[in-house]
Amino acid sequence: MEQRSRDSSPETLDPSDWQDLRAQGHRMLDDILDYLEHIRERPVWQPIPPAVRGRFREPIPQAPRDLAAVHDTFMRDVLPFAVGNAHPGFMGWVHGGGTPVGLLAEMLAAGLNANLGGRDQMPIEVERQVVRWMCELFGFPATAGGLFVTGTSMSNLIGVLVARTAALGTGVRQDGIAAAGARLTAYTSVAAHGCIAQAMDLSGLGTGALRLIPVDDRHQLDIGALEQAIAADRRAGFRPFLIAGTAGTVDVGAIDDLDVLAAIARRERIWFHVDGACGALAMLAPDLAPRLSGIEQADSLAFDFHKWGQVPYDAGFILVRDGDLHRRTFAATAAYLRRDTRGMSAGSPWPCDFGPDLSRGFRALKTWFTISVYGAERLGRAISDTCALARQLAERIDATPSLERLAPVPLNIVCFRYRSEDADRVNADIAVALQESGIVAPSTTTINGRLAIRAAIVNHRTTSSDIDALIEATLAFGEAATRAVRKAS
Ligand SMILES: Cc1ncc(COP(=O)(O)O)c(C=O)c1O
Repeated sequence: MEQRSRDSSPETLDPSDWQDLRAQGHRMLDDILDYLEHIRERPVWQPIPPAVRGRFREPIPQAPRDLAAVHDTFMRDVLPFAVGNAHPGFMGWVHGGGTPVGLLAEMLAAGLNANLGGRDQMPIEVERQVVRWMCELFGFPATAGGLFVTGTSMSNLIGVLVARTAALGTGVRQDGIAAAGARLTAYTSVAAHGCIAQAMDLSGLGTGALRLIPVDDRHQLDIGALEQAIAADRRAGFRPFLIAGTAGTVDVGAIDDLDVLAAIARRERIWFHVDGACGALAMLAPDLAPRLSGIEQADSLAFDFHKWGQVPYDAGFILVRDGDLHRRTFAATAAYLRRDTRGMSAGSPWPCDFGPDLSRGFRALKTWFTISVYGAERLGRAISDTCALARQLAERIDATPSLERLAPVPLNIVCFRYRSEDADRVNADIAVALQESGIVAPSTTTINGRLAIRAAIVNHRTTSSDIDALIEATLAFGEAATRAVRKAS
């Protein structure tokens, strides 16, 4: 690089030749659009070769490198070895597929480099627009608080913290939980995601104060058991403060009876939180929305746009019915964050008053673009289609004697396995073989103590040909794995 003299203008990281940068930028955009356009021709996933991994053990580079060369490294070493959730054959865990629109919006957001912690700026109005849309979608009042966060793990934590304020008052922020002298207890089902327990841990309430209520045969929280647990805790001197229902459990997609949970929470004067990471956006699909009845009564609702909403990672979200309580749970004064009625410091309250993040990216932009461009109806159809594919998969499994379905299919998740001796081992092997084949990539879970292959159809690109491929490959690998187990024993 050219040596700079001491009295020249300060070092800038902008290019000396913008034309060159534009040309390279267009190549990069083309490459990533090619990736999406032709994604079906690629394997869903492939193992990272040791040499590729090894190239990422280098010391920090001191000298500059050409953007084009670094991009070539990305194309060769990074892009082919991602987890592949943009691929239609990806069915593992709960990952959204993203969209080209989201990609382009993310590029604009990076160029603008807005910090959405606060200040009077249109990017925050974009976020507020999405908050208002979500209030409309979920039947929350316009005064509700809403905030983009990384994901539902974070929004569940925020829900627990606001519930804690509701129970103990804002004094708890200064005095701590011990000073309140109340032994708060929370309730969720055994099928709830682990981040609810994590939220109890991080908020200082302790995982031991979370009662894991059994589920019924539809994998929904057992209402009788909940009522008994609350009554028993009250008798023992505890103070029940939170019920966390789930709209779409991570294992099977079960939706708790939210209407009944809301009624119990009201009667018991307990905060009602809903974890809708997997299922809340079913609200966009008219055929599915009635199943979420009761969600509109939640005191707080956590969900992700990066799953069923198809917004690129990350785009978690929290809605809190009482926006003022939400703000009072987090807002703090600081001289350097002084608010004003004019100038850049206007527009209070700011997003940083509603959560723990001060510096915040423009997650709202890719979400606003996604909803604006595709529209709520089309996004809802994509969501509904994934459930239709899951039903199709369930039917194929039920009609195939060598396969066994292990759970109901209320939404878009199907748990099943290949019938075999030593079925846990065989099905774990099948899941790995499927992933390594690059054809389809489900994950696994355990249902009633039995290992299941778990296919979550979240991606809008998945079609019935991928369902067929999953069945055919499972049968082929199942036969091979059974033979291998027999031979070894
Ligand atoms: C029901 C449920 N809750 C919470 C989460 C955590 O969400 P995130 O990964 O966005 O933090 C998940 C993730 O799959 C989930 O399925």
